[in-house]
Amino acid sequence: MLNIRIEKTTAPKAKPQDESKLGFGKIFTDHMFVMNYETGKGWFDPRVVPYQSLSLDPSAMVFHYGQEMFEGLKAYRTEDGRVLMFRPNKNIERANNTNKRICIPEIPEEDFLQAMQAVVSVDKDWIPTAPGTSLYIRPFIIATDPFLGVRPSDTYLFIVILSPVGAYYASGLDPVKIWIEDEYVRAVKGGIGEAKTGGNYVASLKAQMKAHDEGYSQVLWLDGVERKYIEEVGAMNIFFKINGKVVTPMLNGSILPSVTRASCIELCKSWGYEVEERRISVDELVEAARTGALEECWGSGTAAVISPVGNLRFEDEVMEIGGGNIGPLSQRLYDTVTGIQTGKVEDTFGWTVEVK
Ligand code: PLP
Ligand code: COI
Repeated sequence: MLNIRIEKTTAPKAKPQDESKLGFGKIFTDHMFVMNYETGKGWFDPRVVPYQSLSLDPSAMVFHYGQEMFEGLKAYRTEDGRVLMFRPNKNIERANNTNKRICIPEIPEEDFLQAMQAVVSVDKDWIPTAPGTSLYIRPFIIATDPFLGVRPSDTYLFIVILSPVGAYYASGLDPVKIWIEDEYVRAVKGGIGEAKTGGNYVASLKAQMKAHDEGYSQVLWLDGVERKYIEEVGAMNIFFKINGKVVTPMLNGSILPSVTRASCIELCKSWGYEVEERRISVDELVEAARTGALEECWGSGTAAVISPVGNLRFEDEVMEIGGGNIGPLSQRLYDTVTGIQTGKVEDTFGWTVEVK
């Protein structure tokens, strides 16, 4: 159990007036959680302090070799005033898997949860309540040793910041257009694709710019070896409904083991759908689109929630799905996931954790 010191701001910021214009990740709350690490001493000095800039040595290792991890989850306010987090233990488990992969010391699960709860509790008045809004929680760890050699750092900072957010895509629940990338790759098995670390996202920027230039909002990655099998989208996992079955790429070591993906699979199975986690080639997808077997496509992620995909482009092939509308299963998943998150739908799976 952490003994968290709390220092409240003396200059609270004005909260956003119009919750329909929040967008994603542009506004930050009044406080943040911070904790230090030193080899031999462990994690120490847990504190909630006013949101502020950091002072770091220009040689801090994170700036040079990218030894950093992050997570993303959300807190919601229910109609009866409770504050709920959605499956935080899955994010904490993944955080520590990322830590192991990139040689960052692990944080005990209960301490990680307590840290997030402490700062959310101090800033709970920042949780927006308009439909489709929530408080995004961004925990991250950075390597701070002032040193230019390549090795794991001996000192780290663990920080949790909070951002009131609306939809990740400007289009909201309108179907997004996705570009299937066959030149650049994001990750390969054995690399860091299944870890949540900045390097995966910088690797994606070039293709994302290319997709934007072509009028597409995100990139769907193919596997890094054969450039043949569907992996995931820049900030979400991908699902297809083909001939009545739900199909999604299996966790293969190069895609992110996602919390929303796991939740979609559990919900679809509970509704009686057959769910296949397997390799899906882009050729199979093109064929399914041509024959009309491809009934729905959606992305899943914390920021993206359930995001219908209306158009997939692979080379010269344009696959239109759902005639510009969200499909019935995507809509049911969106309503159920957001319903459980906001306390409107009974949480029969025990996925939510209340913040006191
Ligand atoms: N894939 C990538 C690359 C992501 O950045 C995210 C976002 O976290 C996801 C998938 C979805 O993961 P989750 O549902 O755990 O948020
Ligand atoms: C999330 O959904 O939490 C993410 O981390 C996506 C992010 C890259 C915006």
